[in-house]
Amino acid sequence: MGKLQSIDISAVVEEMASAGFGHLEESILQCSDCALREGATNPVIMKGSRNPRVLFIGEAPGRTEDMTGIPFSGRAGKKLDEMIGYMGLSAGDYAVINAVKCRPPNNRKPLKGEIELCRPFLMAQIKMLDPQVIILLGNTAEEAFCRSKKLEWGIPKVSGGISILKIYHPAAMIYQRSRIEEQKTLIDTNRYLWE
Ligand code: URA
Repeated sequence: MGKLQSIDISAVVEEMASAGFGHLEESILQCSDCALREGATNPVIMKGSRNPRVLFIGEAPGRTEDMTGIPFSGRAGKKLDEMIGYMGLSAGDYAVINAVKCRPPNNRKPLKGEIELCRPFLMAQIKMLDPQVIILLGNTAEEAFCRSKKLEWGIPKVSGGISILKIYHPAAMIYQRSRIEEQKTLIDTNRYLWE
């Protein structure tokens, strides 16, 4: 799949999305296109509904996620759960995925090339999950989805009929406590998107 990056990925995305969840999962598990797979215990694919109204996109698995194979199952996951509770979403309303499926060493930010190589999986997941709202959790999710920085914090844009909103990554709530209130404001001003 890596070699196809230099040409249009839309055909690959289309093919993966039409092959179904099981096939996509298998492709992610089999992938060794970048060096991250060597250091990872488990590629981390998704959690939540397969028919979500809201899709959260994070950065990459951390240590806990690498062990469990479940996105946001560690400390940042607790913060994400609190945030989702504050948004008023129920289990069937949302799904959670990451821009990059394998854990980068020492939780470093994924490299541009790693994001690019994983992007067909991300775009196929979005196509299959077909959400009404995509919530990008931080700058890496934005870079992966938009291929550059295009969004302002908390200001939604509509693309292909989907509302795209960038808010803070849940880990920011751990390291910068002042972000908690700021995040609540970003959520409050955008509630109409999912309510
Ligand atoms: N941070 C992320 O961006 N994703 C996870 O799954 C866990 C922590």
